[in-house]
Amino acid sequence: MATKIPVAVPQIAHPELERKIRLRQAHVGIIGMGYVGLPLALLFGEEGYEVTGFDVDADKVEKLASGGSYIVRISPSEIQNARAHGFSATTDYSRLDEMDAVVICVPTPLGEFREPDLRYIRSTAQSIAPHLRAGQLIVLESTTYPGTTEEVLVPILEKENPASLCAARTASDSDGVFYVAFSPEREDPGNTTVDRRDIPKVVGGVDERAGDLASALYSTIFHRTVRVSSPAVAEMTKLLENIYRCVNIALVNELKLLCLRMGIDIWEVIEAAKTKPFGFQAFYPGPGLGGHCIPVDPFYLSWKAKEFDFQTRFIELAGEINTAMPYHVVSAVISALNNHNKALQGARVLVLGLAYKKDIDDLRESPSLTIIELLRKAGAEVSYHDPYFPFVGRGRKYDLHMKCAPLQNLNQYDCVLIATDHSDYDYQRIVEDSQLIVDTRNATRRLRSNKVVYC
Ligand SMILES: NC(=O)c1ccc[n+]([C@@H]2O[C@H](COP(=O)([O-])OP(=O)(O)OC[C@H]3O[C@@H](n4cnc5c(N)ncnc54)[C@H](O)[C@@H]3O)[C@@H](O)[C@H]2O)c1
Repeated sequence: MATKIPVAVPQIAHPELERKIRLRQAHVGIIGMGYVGLPLALLFGEEGYEVTGFDVDADKVEKLASGGSYIVRISPSEIQNARAHGFSATTDYSRLDEMDAVVICVPTPLGEFREPDLRYIRSTAQSIAPHLRAGQLIVLESTTYPGTTEEVLVPILEKENPASLCAARTASDSDGVFYVAFSPEREDPGNTTVDRRDIPKVVGGVDERAGDLASALYSTIFHRTVRVSSPAVAEMTKLLENIYRCVNIALVNELKLLCLRMGIDIWEVIEAAKTKPFGFQAFYPGPGLGGHCIPVDPFYLSWKAKEFDFQTRFIELAGEINTAMPYHVVSAVISALNNHNKALQGARVLVLGLAYKKDIDDLRESPSLTIIELLRKAGAEVSYHDPYFPFVGRGRKYDLHMKCAPLQNLNQYDCVLIATDHSDYDYQRIVEDSQLIVDTRNATRRLRSNKVVYC
Protein backbone atom coordinates (compact mmCIF):
# COMPACT_ATOMS: atom_id res chain seq x y z
CA MET A 1 0.00 0.00 0.00
CA ALA A 2 1.38 3.40 -0.98
CA THR A 3 2.22 5.63 1.95
CA LYS A 4 0.08 8.71 2.15
CA ILE A 5 2.21 11.84 1.91
CA PRO A 6 0.91 14.45 4.32
CA VAL A 7 -0.24 17.52 2.43
CA ALA A 8 0.39 20.87 4.02
CA VAL A 9 -3.01 22.45 4.57
CA PRO A 10 -2.78 26.25 4.44
CA GLN A 11 -3.50 27.60 7.90
CA ILE A 12 -6.32 30.07 8.10
CA ALA A 13 -5.22 32.69 10.56
CA HIS A 14 -7.71 35.13 11.95
CA PRO A 15 -8.54 37.17 8.80
CA GLU A 16 -10.08 40.10 10.65
CA LEU A 17 -7.03 40.60 12.86
CA GLU A 18 -4.67 40.14 9.91
CA ARG A 19 -6.57 42.84 8.02
CA LYS A 20 -6.45 45.21 10.99
CA ILE A 21 -2.71 44.66 11.37
CA ARG A 22 -2.16 45.26 7.64
CA LEU A 23 -4.10 48.51 7.83
CA ARG A 24 -2.55 49.49 11.21
CA GLN A 25 -6.07 49.52 12.61
CA ALA A 26 -5.41 46.92 15.32
CA HIS A 27 -5.70 48.35 18.81
CA VAL A 28 -2.56 47.30 20.67
CA GLY A 29 -2.43 46.95 24.47
CA ILE A 30 0.93 46.80 26.21
CA ILE A 31 0.95 45.51 29.79
CA GLY A 32 3.82 46.86 31.89
CA MET A 33 4.95 50.41 31.13
CA GLY A 34 8.57 49.90 32.17
CA TYR A 35 11.92 49.97 30.38
CA VAL A 36 10.63 47.46 27.81
CA GLY A 37 6.91 48.18 27.53
CA LEU A 38 6.97 51.97 27.23
CA PRO A 39 9.44 52.17 24.30
CA LEU A 40 7.53 49.35 22.60
CA ALA A 41 4.27 51.26 23.00
CA LEU A 42 5.93 54.30 21.40
CA LEU A 43 7.19 52.18 18.48
CA PHE A 44 3.69 50.84 17.77
CA GLY A 45 2.34 54.38 18.10
CA GLU A 46 4.88 55.71 15.57
CA GLU A 47 3.62 53.12 13.12
CA GLY A 48 0.07 54.48 13.39
CA TYR A 49 -1.49 51.98 15.80
CA GLU A 50 -3.77 53.09 18.56
CA VAL A 51 -1.90 51.99 21.68
CA THR A 52 -3.04 51.64 25.28
CA GLY A 53 -0.52 51.01 28.05
CA PHE A 54 -1.61 49.12 31.16
CA ASP A 55 0.23 49.29 34.46
CA VAL A 56 -0.58 48.58 38.10
CA ASP A 57 1.57 51.55 39.12
CA ALA A 58 -0.86 54.49 39.26
CA ASP A 59 2.02 57.00 39.54
CA LYS A 60 3.43 55.89 36.18
CA VAL A 61 0.01 56.03 34.54
CA GLU A 62 -0.57 59.50 35.94
CA LYS A 63 2.83 60.69 34.75
CA LEU A 64 2.12 59.43 31.23
CA ALA A 65 -1.37 60.96 31.30
CA SER A 66 0.15 64.35 32.08
CA GLY A 67 2.64 63.98 29.20
CA GLY A 68 5.62 63.25 31.45
CA SER A 69 8.28 60.54 31.38
CA TYR A 70 10.04 58.58 34.16
CA ILE A 71 12.70 57.02 31.91
CA VAL A 72 15.65 59.31 31.18
CA ARG A 73 16.15 58.28 27.56
CA ILE A 74 12.45 58.90 26.74
CA SER A 75 11.69 62.61 26.69
CA PRO A 76 8.35 64.09 27.79
CA SER A 77 7.93 65.47 24.25
CA GLU A 78 7.98 61.88 22.90
CA ILE A 79 5.17 60.97 25.31
CA GLN A 80 3.21 64.10 24.38
CA ASN A 81 3.64 63.36 20.69
CA ALA A 82 2.48 59.77 21.21
CA ARG A 83 -0.52 60.99 23.20
CA ALA A 84 -1.46 63.30 20.35
CA HIS A 85 -1.49 60.21 18.09
CA GLY A 86 -3.72 58.05 20.28
CA PHE A 87 -1.46 56.68 23.04
CA SER A 88 -2.98 56.51 26.50
CA ALA A 89 -2.23 54.63 29.70
CA THR A 90 -4.52 53.14 32.28
CA THR A 91 -4.72 50.93 35.36
CA ASP A 92 -8.14 49.70 34.25
CA TYR A 93 -7.89 46.13 32.96
CA SER A 94 -11.52 46.11 31.82
CA ARG A 95 -10.32 48.11 28.80
CA LEU A 96 -8.45 45.00 27.63
CA ASP A 97 -11.48 43.77 25.73
CA GLU A 98 -11.02 46.75 23.36
CA MET A 99 -7.59 45.40 22.40
CA ASP A 100 -6.91 43.26 19.33
CA ALA A 101 -3.39 42.39 20.41
CA VAL A 102 -1.95 42.40 23.94
CA VAL A 103 1.78 42.34 24.64
CA ILE A 104 2.94 41.47 28.16
CA CYS A 105 6.13 43.17 29.40
CA VAL A 106 6.02 42.64 33.17
CA PRO A 107 9.01 41.91 35.45
CA THR A 108 10.44 38.42 35.93
CA PRO A 109 12.78 38.71 38.94
CA LEU A 110 14.34 36.00 41.09
CA GLY A 111 13.03 35.02 44.49
CA GLU A 112 15.09 34.94 47.66
CA PHE A 113 16.66 31.59 46.77
CA ARG A 114 17.32 32.40 43.10
CA GLU A 115 14.12 30.69 42.00
CA PRO A 116 11.94 32.24 39.24
CA ASP A 117 9.39 34.65 40.63
CA LEU A 118 6.52 34.45 38.15
CA ARG A 119 4.01 36.29 40.27
CA TYR A 120 3.82 39.23 37.82
CA ILE A 121 3.13 36.95 34.85
CA ARG A 122 0.53 35.01 36.85
CA SER A 123 -1.27 38.10 38.12
CA THR A 124 -1.23 39.62 34.62
CA ALA A 125 -2.76 36.44 33.18
CA GLN A 126 -5.41 36.51 35.92
CA SER A 127 -6.18 40.13 35.07
CA ILE A 128 -6.42 39.46 31.32
CA ALA A 129 -8.59 36.33 31.54
CA PRO A 130 -11.92 37.98 32.52
CA HIS A 131 -11.63 40.29 29.49
CA LEU A 132 -10.37 37.80 26.92
CA ARG A 133 -12.13 37.83 23.53
CA ALA A 134 -12.14 35.25 20.75
CA GLY A 135 -9.58 36.17 18.10
CA GLN A 136 -7.34 38.24 20.39
CA LEU A 137 -3.59 37.81 20.13
CA ILE A 138 -1.65 37.61 23.42
CA VAL A 139 2.16 37.82 23.27
CA LEU A 140 4.48 37.34 26.23
CA GLU A 141 7.77 39.29 26.03
CA SER A 142 9.05 38.93 29.60
CA THR A 143 12.23 36.86 29.81
CA THR A 144 11.54 33.48 31.37
CA TYR A 145 12.35 29.76 31.33
CA PRO A 146 11.29 27.55 28.41
CA GLY A 147 7.76 26.33 29.00
CA THR A 148 6.34 29.38 30.78
CA THR A 149 4.04 30.45 27.95
CA GLU A 150 2.42 27.05 27.57
CA GLU A 151 2.70 25.79 31.14
CA VAL A 152 1.84 28.95 33.08
CA LEU A 153 0.30 31.67 30.91
CA VAL A 154 -2.02 29.63 28.67
CA PRO A 155 -3.53 27.46 31.47
CA ILE A 156 -4.47 30.55 33.53
CA LEU A 157 -5.98 32.29 30.49
CA GLU A 158 -7.94 29.17 29.56
CA LYS A 159 -9.12 28.33 33.06
CA GLU A 160 -10.11 31.80 34.16
CA ASN A 161 -11.86 33.27 31.10
CA PRO A 162 -15.66 33.20 31.52
CA ALA A 163 -16.38 32.31 27.88
CA SER A 164 -14.38 29.03 28.00
CA LEU A 165 -12.16 30.21 25.16
CA CYS A 166 -9.11 28.06 24.36
CA ALA A 167 -5.71 28.88 22.96
CA ALA A 168 -5.54 27.96 19.27
CA ARG A 169 -3.57 24.71 18.99
CA THR A 170 -4.67 22.83 15.89
CA ALA A 171 -5.74 23.98 12.44
CA SER A 172 -9.30 22.78 13.03
CA ASP A 173 -10.19 24.94 16.00
CA SER A 174 -10.99 28.41 14.77
CA ASP A 175 -14.07 29.31 16.79
CA GLY A 176 -13.76 30.29 20.43
CA VAL A 177 -10.00 30.57 20.33
CA PHE A 178 -7.43 33.19 21.16
CA TYR A 179 -3.86 33.19 19.88
CA VAL A 180 -0.73 33.05 22.03
CA ALA A 181 2.94 33.56 21.21
CA PHE A 182 6.24 34.33 22.93
CA SER A 183 8.62 36.93 21.55
CA PRO A 184 11.62 37.96 23.66
CA GLU A 185 12.70 41.55 24.12
CA ARG A 186 16.36 41.83 23.02
CA GLU A 187 17.09 45.47 23.73
CA ASP A 188 20.49 46.58 25.03
CA PRO A 189 19.82 49.64 27.22
CA GLY A 190 22.10 52.55 26.48
CA ASN A 191 23.33 51.02 23.22
CA THR A 192 22.84 53.68 20.56
CA THR A 193 24.69 51.82 17.79
CA VAL A 194 21.71 49.63 16.80
CA ASP A 195 18.29 51.07 16.13
CA ARG A 196 15.60 49.12 17.97
CA ARG A 197 13.80 48.42 14.69
CA ASP A 198 16.98 46.73 13.41
CA ILE A 199 17.07 44.14 16.19
CA PRO A 200 15.44 41.07 14.62
CA LYS A 201 12.36 39.92 16.53
CA VAL A 202 12.22 36.20 17.37
CA VAL A 203 8.65 34.85 17.44
CA GLY A 204 7.31 31.44 18.48
CA GLY A 205 3.55 30.79 18.42
CA VAL A 206 1.63 28.11 20.34
CA ASP A 207 0.40 27.16 16.87
CA GLU A 208 1.26 28.23 13.36
CA ARG A 209 -1.52 30.82 13.20
CA ALA A 210 -0.50 32.48 16.46
CA GLY A 211 3.07 32.66 15.10
CA ASP A 212 1.78 34.13 11.83
CA LEU A 213 -0.27 36.80 13.58
CA ALA A 214 2.49 37.77 16.03
CA SER A 215 5.00 37.83 13.20
CA ALA A 216 2.67 40.00 11.08
CA LEU A 217 2.24 42.41 13.98
CA TYR A 218 5.96 42.71 14.77
CA SER A 219 7.02 42.94 11.15
CA THR A 220 5.19 46.26 10.98
CA ILE A 221 7.61 47.76 13.52
CA PHE A 222 10.77 45.62 13.19
CA HIS A 223 12.72 45.22 9.97
CA ARG A 224 13.05 41.47 10.42
CA THR A 225 11.18 38.77 12.32
CA VAL A 226 12.63 35.32 12.92
CA ARG A 227 10.05 32.56 13.20
CA VAL A 228 10.80 29.61 15.45
CA SER A 229 8.71 26.51 15.91
CA SER A 230 7.35 27.07 19.44
CA PRO A 231 7.22 29.50 22.35
CA ALA A 232 9.73 27.27 24.20
CA VAL A 233 12.32 27.71 21.43
CA ALA A 234 11.81 31.49 21.55
CA GLU A 235 12.08 31.47 25.37
CA MET A 236 15.27 29.40 25.22
CA THR A 237 16.75 31.64 22.50
CA LYS A 238 16.62 34.65 24.82
CA LEU A 239 18.19 32.66 27.65
CA LEU A 240 20.98 31.37 25.41
CA GLU A 241 21.83 34.97 24.45
CA ASN A 242 21.98 36.11 28.06
CA ILE A 243 23.80 33.03 29.35
CA TYR A 244 26.39 33.53 26.61
CA ARG A 245 27.02 37.05 27.92
CA CYS A 246 27.00 35.99 31.56
CA VAL A 247 29.51 33.15 31.01
CA ASN A 248 31.84 35.25 28.87
CA ILE A 249 31.81 38.12 31.35
CA ALA A 250 32.66 35.62 34.10
CA LEU A 251 35.53 34.33 31.96
CA VAL A 252 37.09 37.79 31.55
CA ASN A 253 36.46 38.59 35.20
CA GLU A 254 38.37 35.47 36.22
CA LEU A 255 41.17 36.14 33.75
CA LYS A 256 41.38 39.71 35.06
CA LEU A 257 42.05 38.37 38.56
CA LEU A 258 44.82 36.19 37.16
CA CYS A 259 46.26 39.06 35.09
CA LEU A 260 46.32 41.32 38.15
CA ARG A 261 48.48 38.74 39.94
CA MET A 262 50.70 38.32 36.91
CA GLY A 263 51.11 42.06 36.35
CA ILE A 264 49.46 41.88 32.91
CA ASP A 265 46.92 44.46 31.78
CA ILE A 266 43.76 42.51 30.84
CA TRP A 267 42.36 45.52 28.97
CA GLU A 268 45.40 45.66 26.73
CA VAL A 269 45.05 41.91 26.16
CA ILE A 270 41.38 42.25 25.15
CA GLU A 271 42.15 45.13 22.77
CA ALA A 272 44.80 42.99 21.07
CA ALA A 273 42.60 39.85 20.97
CA LYS A 274 39.72 41.70 19.44
CA THR A 275 41.75 42.52 16.33
CA LYS A 276 41.21 38.89 15.30
CA PRO A 277 38.64 39.11 12.50
CA PHE A 278 36.85 35.87 13.43
CA GLY A 279 36.19 33.59 16.40
CA PHE A 280 36.55 36.17 19.15
CA GLN A 281 34.07 38.60 20.63
CA ALA A 282 35.23 41.08 23.26
CA PHE A 283 33.68 41.08 26.72
CA TYR A 284 34.96 43.33 29.47
CA PRO A 285 35.63 42.81 33.17
CA GLY A 286 33.93 44.98 35.77
CA PRO A 287 32.85 45.31 39.40
CA GLY A 288 30.13 42.66 39.00
CA LEU A 289 26.99 42.05 37.01
CA GLY A 290 23.96 44.29 37.08
CA GLY A 291 20.65 44.94 35.39
CA HIS A 292 17.43 43.05 35.13
CA CYS A 293 18.79 40.47 32.68
CA ILE A 294 22.30 39.05 32.92
CA PRO A 295 22.46 38.43 36.70
CA VAL A 296 18.91 37.06 36.74
CA ASP A 297 17.87 35.22 33.58
CA PRO A 298 20.45 32.37 33.60
CA PHE A 299 19.05 31.20 36.94
CA TYR A 300 15.61 30.82 35.38
CA LEU A 301 17.13 28.08 33.26
CA SER A 302 19.20 26.44 36.00
CA TRP A 303 16.01 26.24 38.11
CA LYS A 304 14.05 24.66 35.26
CA ALA A 305 16.92 22.29 34.47
CA LYS A 306 16.54 20.67 37.90
CA GLU A 307 13.12 19.40 36.82
CA PHE A 308 15.06 17.37 34.24
CA ASP A 309 17.66 16.20 36.79
CA PHE A 310 20.26 18.37 35.05
CA GLN A 311 22.93 20.65 36.53
CA THR A 312 23.80 23.73 34.46
CA ARG A 313 27.41 23.96 35.61
CA PHE A 314 28.50 26.84 33.39
CA ILE A 315 25.69 29.00 34.77
CA GLU A 316 26.52 28.14 38.38
CA LEU A 317 30.25 28.75 37.88
CA ALA A 318 29.69 32.04 36.06
CA GLY A 319 27.30 33.12 38.84
CA GLU A 320 29.90 32.27 41.48
CA ILE A 321 32.65 34.28 39.76
CA ASN A 322 30.47 37.28 38.91
CA THR A 323 28.89 37.57 42.37
CA ALA A 324 32.38 37.52 43.93
CA MET A 325 33.46 40.62 41.98
CA PRO A 326 32.09 43.28 44.39
CA TYR A 327 34.05 41.54 47.19
CA HIS A 328 37.17 41.73 45.04
CA VAL A 329 36.57 45.47 44.55
CA VAL A 330 36.27 46.03 48.31
CA SER A 331 39.53 44.08 48.87
CA ALA A 332 41.18 46.30 46.26
CA VAL A 333 40.00 49.42 48.11
CA ILE A 334 41.36 48.00 51.38
CA SER A 335 44.74 47.27 49.88
CA ALA A 336 44.93 50.64 48.07
CA LEU A 337 44.19 52.46 51.33
CA ASN A 338 46.70 50.24 53.11
CA ASN A 339 49.38 51.42 50.70
CA HIS A 340 48.51 54.95 51.84
CA ASN A 341 48.84 53.85 55.49
CA LYS A 342 45.09 54.04 55.99
CA ALA A 343 42.46 51.59 57.16
CA LEU A 344 39.06 51.16 55.56
CA GLN A 345 37.48 51.61 59.00
CA GLY A 346 36.66 55.33 59.17
CA ALA A 347 37.95 56.07 55.66
CA ARG A 348 35.90 58.44 53.48
CA VAL A 349 35.09 56.71 50.21
CA LEU A 350 33.23 58.27 47.26
CA VAL A 351 31.63 55.76 44.89
CA LEU A 352 31.27 57.17 41.39
CA GLY A 353 28.31 55.66 39.54
CA LEU A 354 25.33 53.77 40.94
CA ALA A 355 23.80 52.61 37.64
CA TYR A 356 24.78 49.08 36.67
CA LYS A 357 26.32 50.36 33.46
CA LYS A 358 27.28 53.65 31.95
CA ASP A 359 24.88 56.33 30.77
CA ILE A 360 21.67 54.67 31.93
CA ASP A 361 19.24 55.38 34.78
CA ASP A 362 18.80 51.79 35.94
CA LEU A 363 20.24 50.53 39.21
CA ARG A 364 18.56 47.14 39.37
CA GLU A 365 21.03 44.54 40.68
CA SER A 366 23.80 47.12 40.36
CA PRO A 367 27.11 45.97 41.88
CA SER A 368 27.58 49.53 43.21
CA LEU A 369 24.80 48.88 45.72
CA THR A 370 26.51 45.75 47.04
CA ILE A 371 29.87 47.52 47.12
CA ILE A 372 28.43 50.42 49.14
CA GLU A 373 26.86 48.01 51.62
CA LEU A 374 30.11 46.06 51.99
CA LEU A 375 32.16 49.24 52.47
CA ARG A 376 29.70 50.52 55.07
CA LYS A 377 29.73 47.21 56.90
CA ALA A 378 33.51 47.44 57.09
CA GLY A 379 33.22 50.85 58.77
CA ALA A 380 33.88 53.18 55.83
CA GLU A 381 32.09 56.50 55.56
CA VAL A 382 30.58 56.14 52.09
CA SER A 383 29.19 58.80 49.73
CA TYR A 384 28.17 58.40 46.11
CA HIS A 385 27.74 60.48 43.02
CA ASP A 386 25.64 59.58 39.99
CA PRO A 387 24.10 62.14 37.62
CA TYR A 388 21.09 59.82 37.13
CA PHE A 389 20.20 59.35 40.81
CA PRO A 390 19.76 62.40 43.09
CA PHE A 391 19.04 60.00 45.93
CA VAL A 392 18.83 56.28 46.59
CA GLY A 393 16.44 54.81 49.12
CA ARG A 394 15.31 51.28 49.61
CA GLY A 395 15.03 48.53 47.02
CA ARG A 396 14.31 44.83 47.12
CA LYS A 397 17.87 44.04 48.14
CA TYR A 398 19.29 47.27 49.58
CA ASP A 399 18.40 49.93 52.07
CA LEU A 400 20.80 52.83 51.60
CA HIS A 401 19.02 56.16 52.10
CA MET A 402 21.74 58.33 50.61
CA LYS A 403 21.79 61.61 48.73
CA CYS A 404 24.04 62.22 45.74
CA ALA A 405 27.18 64.06 46.90
CA PRO A 406 28.43 67.00 44.82
CA LEU A 407 31.43 66.30 42.62
CA GLN A 408 33.52 68.88 44.46
CA ASN A 409 36.35 68.83 46.97
CA LEU A 410 37.33 65.36 45.86
CA ASN A 411 40.45 65.75 47.91
CA GLN A 412 38.34 65.28 51.05
CA TYR A 413 37.90 61.58 50.21
CA ASP A 414 40.50 59.01 51.15
CA CYS A 415 39.50 57.04 48.08
CA VAL A 416 37.38 57.68 44.99
CA LEU A 417 36.05 54.43 43.55
CA ILE A 418 34.99 54.43 39.89
CA ALA A 419 32.20 51.85 39.79
CA THR A 420 30.35 53.06 36.67
CA ASP A 421 32.13 54.88 33.86
CA HIS A 422 29.45 57.43 32.89
CA SER A 423 30.53 59.44 29.84
CA ASP A 424 29.67 62.75 31.54
CA TYR A 425 32.47 62.44 34.07
CA ASP A 426 35.56 64.58 33.57
CA TYR A 427 38.08 61.88 34.43
CA GLN A 428 41.08 64.16 34.09
CA ARG A 429 39.69 66.48 36.75
CA ILE A 430 38.68 63.55 38.94
CA VAL A 431 42.21 62.16 38.84
CA GLU A 432 43.81 65.58 39.40
CA ASP A 433 41.59 66.42 42.38
CA SER A 434 41.54 63.06 44.18
CA GLN A 435 44.09 61.59 46.58
CA LEU A 436 43.57 58.00 45.47
CA ILE A 437 41.40 56.38 42.79
CA VAL A 438 40.36 52.76 42.46
CA ASP A 439 39.15 52.21 38.89
CA THR A 440 37.03 49.13 38.15
CA ARG A 441 36.23 50.16 34.56
CA ASN A 442 39.52 51.23 33.04
CA ALA A 443 38.00 54.72 32.69
CA THR A 444 41.22 56.57 33.54
CA ARG A 445 43.71 54.40 31.65
CA ARG A 446 44.84 57.02 29.15
CA LEU A 447 45.60 59.50 31.98
CA ARG A 448 48.49 57.35 33.25
CA SER A 449 48.49 58.54 36.83
CA ASN A 450 50.14 56.74 39.71
CA LYS A 451 47.25 57.82 41.93
CA VAL A 452 45.11 55.21 40.17
CA VAL A 453 44.81 51.55 41.16
CA TYR A 454 43.11 49.30 38.56
CA CYS A 455 41.10 46.42 39.86
N1 LIG B 1 15.13 46.30 30.82
C1 LIG B 1 15.72 45.65 29.84
O1 LIG B 1 16.67 46.13 29.28
C2 LIG B 1 15.20 44.31 29.35
C3 LIG B 1 15.78 43.77 28.19
C4 LIG B 1 15.31 42.56 27.71
C5 LIG B 1 14.28 41.89 28.39
N2 LIG B 1 13.75 42.44 29.54
C6 LIG B 1 12.67 41.71 30.19
O2 LIG B 1 11.44 42.40 29.98
C7 LIG B 1 10.60 42.27 31.13
C8 LIG B 1 10.20 43.64 31.66
O3 LIG B 1 11.37 44.29 32.09
P1 LIG B 1 11.42 45.85 32.36
O4 LIG B 1 12.86 46.20 32.44
O5 LIG B 1 10.56 46.59 31.41
O6 LIG B 1 10.75 45.91 33.82
P2 LIG B 1 10.23 47.23 34.58
O7 LIG B 1 10.26 46.90 36.02
O8 LIG B 1 10.96 48.44 34.07
O9 LIG B 1 8.73 47.39 34.08
C9 LIG B 1 7.73 46.48 34.37
C10 LIG B 1 6.43 47.24 34.55
O10 LIG B 1 5.39 46.28 34.76
C11 LIG B 1 4.50 46.81 35.72
N3 LIG B 1 3.71 45.70 36.25
C12 LIG B 1 4.04 44.77 37.17
N4 LIG B 1 3.02 43.93 37.35
C13 LIG B 1 2.03 44.32 36.54
C14 LIG B 1 0.73 43.84 36.28
N5 LIG B 1 0.24 42.76 36.88
N6 LIG B 1 -0.03 44.51 35.38
C15 LIG B 1 0.46 45.61 34.75
N7 LIG B 1 1.67 46.10 34.95
C16 LIG B 1 2.45 45.46 35.84
C17 LIG B 1 5.39 47.51 36.71
O11 LIG B 1 4.68 48.46 37.47
C18 LIG B 1 6.42 48.15 35.78
O12 LIG B 1 6.02 49.45 35.37
C19 LIG B 1 11.38 41.42 32.13
O13 LIG B 1 11.02 40.07 31.97
C20 LIG B 1 12.81 41.62 31.69
O14 LIG B 1 13.63 40.51 32.04
C21 LIG B 1 14.19 43.64 30.03
